[in-house]
Amino acid sequence: MCGIVGYKGKRQAAAIIIDSLKRLEYRGYDSAGIAIFNGKAIEVHKEKGRIIDLEKVIPDISGTVGIGHTRWATHGRPNKINAHPHTSGDIAVVHNGIIENYQQLKERLSQSGYNFVSETDTEVLAHLINYYHKSDLIEAVLSALKEIKGSYAIAVLCGNELVAARKDSPLIIGLGEGENFVASDIPAILKYTRKVIFLNDLEVAYVDQDRVTFFDTEKREIEKKVNTIEWNLEAAEKSGYEHFMLKEIHEQPRALHDTFAGRIYELEGNIVFDGLKLTESRIKDISRISIIACGTSYNAGFLGKYLFEQLSGIHVDVEIASEFRYAHSSPGSLVIAISQSGETADTLAALREAKSSGCRTLAITNVTGSTITREVESVIYTRSGPEIGVAATKTFISQLAVLYLLALYFGKIRGKISQDRMKRMLVSLKHIPAQITRLLNDKEMIIKFASVFKSSNDFFFIGRTLNYPIALEGALKLKEISYIHAEGYAAGELKHGPLALITQNTPVVAIATKGLTYDKVVNNIKEVKAREAPVLAIADEKDSEIEKYVDSVIRVPTTEEIFSPVLSTVVVQLLSYYIAKARNCPIDQPRNLAKSVTVE
Ligand code: G6P
Repeated sequence: MCGIVGYKGKRQAAAIIIDSLKRLEYRGYDSAGIAIFNGKAIEVHKEKGRIIDLEKVIPDISGTVGIGHTRWATHGRPNKINAHPHTSGDIAVVHNGIIENYQQLKERLSQSGYNFVSETDTEVLAHLINYYHKSDLIEAVLSALKEIKGSYAIAVLCGNELVAARKDSPLIIGLGEGENFVASDIPAILKYTRKVIFLNDLEVAYVDQDRVTFFDTEKREIEKKVNTIEWNLEAAEKSGYEHFMLKEIHEQPRALHDTFAGRIYELEGNIVFDGLKLTESRIKDISRISIIACGTSYNAGFLGKYLFEQLSGIHVDVEIASEFRYAHSSPGSLVIAISQSGETADTLAALREAKSSGCRTLAITNVTGSTITREVESVIYTRSGPEIGVAATKTFISQLAVLYLLALYFGKIRGKISQDRMKRMLVSLKHIPAQITRLLNDKEMIIKFASVFKSSNDFFFIGRTLNYPIALEGALKLKEISYIHAEGYAAGELKHGPLALITQNTPVVAIATKGLTYDKVVNNIKEVKAREAPVLAIADEKDSEIEKYVDSVIRVPTTEEIFSPVLSTVVVQLLSYYIAKARNCPIDQPRNLAKSVTVE
């Protein structure tokens, strides 16, 4: 996720682009840059860090057309060279998205004499447009985009010409008086205009000072509807959602799509990782894995244990990072550190401890260039984009996605998963984003349950096997944002203690999707019902039996048992959110908690 901006008009472009980029920093802030046509040539200025750092290095540039970018790195470290715009001859490009076939294109363009200076996928696009550019910029952009696999929102500058296009990444056009704008999102331009056109996938816009013309992929002109935005700026930053947490929950299909991009080849039954430095023979030799993490990342790691054990036959210990270093346990031959921020002090300390024992190390993180990435041998990025809400949601889902891919990949190499099974599982996995979208479109039951039980003092979340980590995550989310005491329990363990606490005042959320332990979970539900607890079940949409035993049911789409925890996650996130909302809690910034904890 990055933010892009374009401007063509009557005013000085640099000041407007910088101002608009500041409103897009929620989309990324590791580096930034602008390109302005100064009447003779394109001037490019870039800097590592935030827009304010870029502002300090920009000289006075005179020019009324330009593009800008604020980056959240996916390919290549966050530094000045990798910052956008990327240039090729007289072409400058800013890009948001992931070009999946950039390696192939890079090889081809290098053979044609193009020189690559950055580690990004975007530079390929600049060279490709340059390669096709004879006299018509639109034609060059269309030809280049036909070769791109993946997602993009781009703004292209060539002399005083500005072109924008999108596929699977957001892009809007703002219409002003004698000036027009391109932006990733509405807040960027709301100060200048409320008239907005939403670009659809595979549409291209030619942005002039007094007119914007839209084309399809065959360069046929198309008509577009102009929308008037009624939101204020604050609402616009959250895309109209009341809280960042809700927005981020809704971004999960997109986040998963990006996590999978260029990594899943379901027709061939292959998974490809860019940052994995473990050879096949090393993967075959792994005797044991230790996963270390904190908070929500720990819960992701806990599900990872089940995945690696079931799919690749490797024993896994999951360790709370702050305990690991004092437990004197010997780490497995591979240590996986999970941290969305890549900066959590406890996780770093545990990782260093493990490294000193000589094990191989791998990090799963969302932040390119974060401390953790500099200390491990292999890094796999979750690519969720920046997360603003303190309670992790989309980064958790993406961590799960990476763990599924890794466990499947290891399983195939270790001969535990056949090619056919792999293909089937990858097809099911690729359906998950659309299934989450379905869930997000039907929240009525969750909202109703939240309003009935908003005043409860205690909650239990129960599940078995794969659903147990999600019960832990549900309880953690509820505690964090609603301040209700909640416990996640392995359903079979209830009878060994917590059952003493169950009354008509302790709602129980039972994750009861179909699978190996379904009947056992139903028995556990009967146990709590016998103590008069109100029970909400999270169940398969095809399960016609469950309503006999519980008070309410939230249905999740049918998928393979092993993937159902991802769908149940979305339900527990929404449930926590709506309970916290009903209690008027400050959802995005819960008391006493921080997004990134850099002290031990
Ligand atoms: C803090 C945050 C949690 C997060 C945990 C671990 O406690 O509030 O949401 O899960 O840190 O953070 P990490 O960045 O390492 O995933």
